[in-house]
Amino acid sequence: MANQGTESEGRAFHILPWLLALIVLLLYVDNARRLERLSSIMGYVSAFLFIVANAYYPARVIARRFRPMPDSVIEFFKKYLDVHIWMNEVAFVAMAVHAHYADDKNIVLTALGIVTLFLTVEGLVMHYRLIPADKKLLRLLHNQQILFVVWVLLIIIGHSMV
Ligand code: HEM
Ligand code: HEM
Repeated sequence: MANQGTESEGRAFHILPWLLALIVLLLYVDNARRLERLSSIMGYVSAFLFIVANAYYPARVIARRFRPMPDSVIEFFKKYLDVHIWMNEVAFVAMAVHAHYADDKNIVLTALGIVTLFLTVEGLVMHYRLIPADKKLLRLLHNQQILFVVWVLLIIIGHSMV
C-alpha cells in the first residue's frame, strides 16, 4: 500500500517538467511586447525565488565544515533540497515571462537565459531521471561551483548594462 502511494506520487511529479516546458513554449508563441509591467513584477518574483532557492548552496558549503552533522541538520537539508527544487522550477517560469517581455536585452542577459535554462533542464533531468544518463555525471555538471559563480556574475553584469 505504502509502495503504491510512493509510485503514484512519483508519476504525478513526473508531469511537472513537461508542464513547465509547455508553459514556456506557450509564452514564446505570444509575440505581444506590451507587458512591461508584467516583466518587471516577474523580474522581482524570480529574483526573490532564486535567492531563497539557491541560498541552499552556500548554506551547504558552510554546514559541511561542521562534521559530523547532527541528524536535525541532515533533516533540515533534506527539506531544503525540496524547496530548492520547486522554487527553482517556479522561478524559471517567472524568469521566462520576465525575459520574454523585457525591453533592451543584451548579449550577457541572453547568455544568462541560456545558463539558467541549462541549470534548470539539467536539474530536472537529474531529479526526475528523464534520460538514462549517468547520475554521477549529471550531479557533477549541476553542482559545479564555477557554474554557480558564473551564473551570479551574469545576473549582475547583464543587468548593470541595461
Ligand atoms: C536570473 C534571472 C533573472 C532575474 C532574477 C532578473 C531580475 C530582474 C529585476 C529584479 C529587474 C528589475 C525590474 C525593474 O526595474 O522593473 C530586471 C530588469 C531587467 N531584466 Fe532581468 N532578471 C533575470 C533574467 C533576465 C534575462 C534572462 C533577461 C533577458 C534576456 C533579462 C532582462 C532584463 C531587462 C532588459 C531589464 C531592464 C528592465 C526592462 O527593460 O524591462 N533579465 N531583472
Ligand atoms: C538556476 C537554477 C539552479 C541552480 C543555480 C542550482 C544550483 C545547485 C547547486 C549549486 C547545487 C549543489 C549543492 C551542493 O553542493 O550540495 C544543487 C544541488 C541540487 N539541485 Fe540544483 N540548481 C538549480 C535548479 C535545480 C532544479 C530545477 C532542480 C530539480 C528539478 C535541481 C535539483 C537539484 C538537486 C536534486 C540537487 C542535489 C544534488 C546532489 O545529490 O548532490 N536544481 N543545485
